Amino acid sequence: MVRDKGCGEIKESDVGQNMTLCGWVFRRRDHGGLIFIDLRDRSGILQVVFSPDVSVDTHERAHALRSEYVISVSGEIRRRPDGTENPNMPTGTVEIYVKTLEVMNDSSVLPFSIEDAADTSEVLRFKHRYLDLRRPEIQRNLMIRHKVTKVIRDYLDERGFLEIETPMLTKSTPEGARDYLVPSRLNPGQFYALPQSPQIFKQILMVAGLEKYFQIVKCFRDEDLRADRQPEFTQVDLEMSFVESKDVIAIVEGMMKNIFEDILGEKLHTPFEQLSFHESMERFGNDKPDLRFGLELKEMADLAGKGKFKVFLDAVQAGGRVKAINGRGLASLSRKEIDTLTEDAISFGAKGLAWIKVKDGFESPIAKFFPEDILRQMAQRLEAEEGDLMLFVADKEKIVHDVLSRMRLELGKRLNLIQPGFRFTWITDFPLLEWNDEEGRFEAMHHPFTSPVNEDIEKMLAGDIREKDILGSLKARAYDIVLNGYEIGGGSIRIHRRDVQQKMFEVLGISADDARMKFGFLLDALEYGAPPHGGIALGLDRLVMIMVGASSIRDVIAFPKTQKAFCLMSGTPSAVEPRQLKELWIKLDLPEI
Ligand code: AMO
Ligand code: AMP
Repeated sequence: MVRDKGCGEIKESDVGQNMTLCGWVFRRRDHGGLIFIDLRDRSGILQVVFSPDVSVDTHERAHALRSEYVISVSGEIRRRPDGTENPNMPTGTVEIYVKTLEVMNDSSVLPFSIEDAADTSEVLRFKHRYLDLRRPEIQRNLMIRHKVTKVIRDYLDERGFLEIETPMLTKSTPEGARDYLVPSRLNPGQFYALPQSPQIFKQILMVAGLEKYFQIVKCFRDEDLRADRQPEFTQVDLEMSFVESKDVIAIVEGMMKNIFEDILGEKLHTPFEQLSFHESMERFGNDKPDLRFGLELKEMADLAGKGKFKVFLDAVQAGGRVKAINGRGLASLSRKEIDTLTEDAISFGAKGLAWIKVKDGFESPIAKFFPEDILRQMAQRLEAEEGDLMLFVADKEKIVHDVLSRMRLELGKRLNLIQPGFRFTWITDFPLLEWNDEEGRFEAMHHPFTSPVNEDIEKMLAGDIREKDILGSLKARAYDIVLNGYEIGGGSIRIHRRDVQQKMFEVLGISADDARMKFGFLLDALEYGAPPHGGIALGLDRLVMIMVGASSIRDVIAFPKTQKAFCLMSGTPSAVEPRQLKELWIKLDLPEI
């Protein structure tokens, strides 16, 4: 071996030993007499000292060292003199006095310093991701990510799961995004789709009798990107035969327990809380609630109905809702600050934001529309006290929930209400279908393979696909897992009967021909003794992001893409040779810009 140990592994017990260490020049302090270098490798940082007392020649050569040179140093590990220890460094009590120095490679001047990379523009960091990845924080994230997958593999292996790969060049899987397509050279005019998930293949593995499957697998979705979304991301995907929801839930809870305890030393209490979809929407306005703080949404339509404020009355009249949250302590906000909150609400889709301050009674442009007693009841329901600010939105239910759930998060952050820690919850009792107003048809809330609850199967089979009320009321055997306000996973018990699956396609407006073309192989497989089965997929990137406290999944992915799905380092996507296009039977017809 070229080196004896990692820089970060040197301890007081190594004092007196002669060792060879390798790494990158991180920081350099040239005191003329002594030259200090912080030498960095993956394991950590060690202070390196060049002294003319040890070697005049080496000390002389050390003047030429610059940031990110790759060097090898040999010498004696010594205890740092009293008063020069650095308690902030794991190796802060030791250092190496260098006798021989080898410069293994030099480095050009960096486009940004590794130390200040976190404050550097993302464009610059992503273009030189190999430098960005030298940051100890990002390396730690990748180490944790590695450990998470190791714990998962061990856990599932011990419970009889088999890791089985499914194809990347495949047919479209409907998970709600656009597909990434790959042209086929050997089949002119035909395309593969990269998988949005291994959903259909894992179900077919159950039909095939493999019983317990998992895969840590790349999935591809061409959708608008956000801080918690990448076009290619990783799922911990699993599927089991002869199970009910509670079995899948228990497997995931056990897995989370192991991950958090082994890696972060956090003991999780199981079973996790469960909230029905309905309750989650009513209390938090969305189906991925952050339970680390309160500020719950409260129903106000009944009280609003006893006043004369037209906006509220009109909303209720039109079949909408009026709900409110309590901005604790915010009665001190100025008009201008409240206008900013209103602008936020409008940017989230509201028509406005009505407010009432609890301050020497009630202060608000709309207070005059309500009897004092009603205002008091509003405050009571919101647990609003002197100094609080009640915020109301009236609109269609979807808008009220959307806006107030986002206001809730904003205020939670702004008022510093978010408690540290990890709050898991399951969301259950989802509707099977969701009405898409624009397209005038039902969509699957999860995906078309999710089973209705047993009581609803016959209802669905017997029902007319135009019976909106019945279809809208069907419940799914689906569950999502939410951590600190992020959906980190979703799954369901699947349809395992061909007739039910066929009906489901029909309800979703997929014609029999279309169903045959897109999913014929699944329908065929369901003919031949498909066992009852179910599973889940967890978003590995999101899970690790929350574990390490990062604000974007880009910080836990080695080579992430930008908002425009671009890799700045490799310059991908890029144009290809006309010859390649020809081989793929593709002719570009781009409009002139
Ligand atoms: P779903 O679509 O909910 O379910 O995906 C499972 C989990 O994957 C994560 N995820 C993402 N992470 C990063 N970037 C993305 N673009 C992205 N999209 C999804 C989320 C999500 O909860 N086949 C089903 C699972 C099943 O039913 O077993 C599926 O894919 O954390
Ligand atoms: P207006 O009657 O438009 O002057 O609005 C009076 C107050 O009600 C303002 O503070 C508006 O921001 C607010 N407001 C308007 N529309 C809504 C709505 N749909 N929900 C809640 N508040 C609203």
